[in-house]
Amino acid sequence: MIKTWNEIAPRYHKRWAGKSIGPFQSTQKLVKMAKLRRGNLVLDLACGTGAVTKEITSKIGRFGHVIGADSSQTALSIAKRSIKAKNVDFAILDAENFAFNQKFDVITCQYALFFFPNAAKALSNIKKSLRKNGTLIVATHGAGSTVPYFSSILDSVQKFIPDYISSGAPDLDRFGTKAGLKKAITKAGFSHITIQEYKFWYSPGTFSKYWSDYLKYLAKPLKEKLDKLTPKQKEELKQAIKQKTIPYTKNNTIKFPWKILILSAKNS
Ligand SMILES: C[S@@+](CC[C@H](N)C(=O)[O-])C[C@H]1O[C@@H](n2cnc3c(N)ncnc32)[C@H](O)[C@@H]1O
Repeated sequence: MIKTWNEIAPRYHKRWAGKSIGPFQSTQKLVKMAKLRRGNLVLDLACGTGAVTKEITSKIGRFGHVIGADSSQTALSIAKRSIKAKNVDFAILDAENFAFNQKFDVITCQYALFFFPNAAKALSNIKKSLRKNGTLIVATHGAGSTVPYFSSILDSVQKFIPDYISSGAPDLDRFGTKAGLKKAITKAGFSHITIQEYKFWYSPGTFSKYWSDYLKYLAKPLKEKLDKLTPKQKEELKQAIKQKTIPYTKNNTIKFPWKILILSAKNS
């Protein structure tokens, strides 16, 4: 996992996190929901290349402080380079194994909770690191067909390569519904839970561009699995994916809806 994120962090930043496009329109919404105040001490867990961390630095004033924490050194290096503020530090850590000797006013976690195999352990660490009545803010992608940018390809690929996503990998959709997300956060002992749902839009361009970009930016282990298909199977797969994109295609250009959930909860 760390290896994968180290590999994809530069292009993840360039294509997605560094721009406020598609799902990343959530960054501003999430930070607004956090109701940050000047002087707040904040942890941005799994900060990646720092999209949320950067936004937080501009809200907490010079007496506030934010720590951007992630398990990928490459992602953290990009975050360090792109954030010039003085009220920020970075930490390399595993969300499932961390402790701070200070308590945070707010902890944010955008697009990462579903990656943690033991998310309950990460949530327990978050709870221990929040001050009483401190705020947790979590953003996740909607499940299944609510994010056709993912599902158009994944649903089709899995028919050709059933073990495309390894059987031991966490279910990335498990926090993609209000009920699933609320259940996990309630179980972790948080209260005052509210969840906002958003529908953003993202255009990957023509179908050819969507498919060629997917192949171009794919992590190595998945690329190796796709490369085992015969040319005929590859073509059939491409056509199956194309079919799925037709409802979202107009004038040769795809425009996908993209559901996002942003949760706010208290450590009471
Ligand atoms: C999709 S990125 C989100 C990054 C950032 N929050 C954003 O909104 O751009 C997921 C991040 O989770 C990090 N990550 C995955 N598993 C982790 C873990 N167990 N502990 C800490 N970070 C982790 C990855 O390194 C990656 O930077």
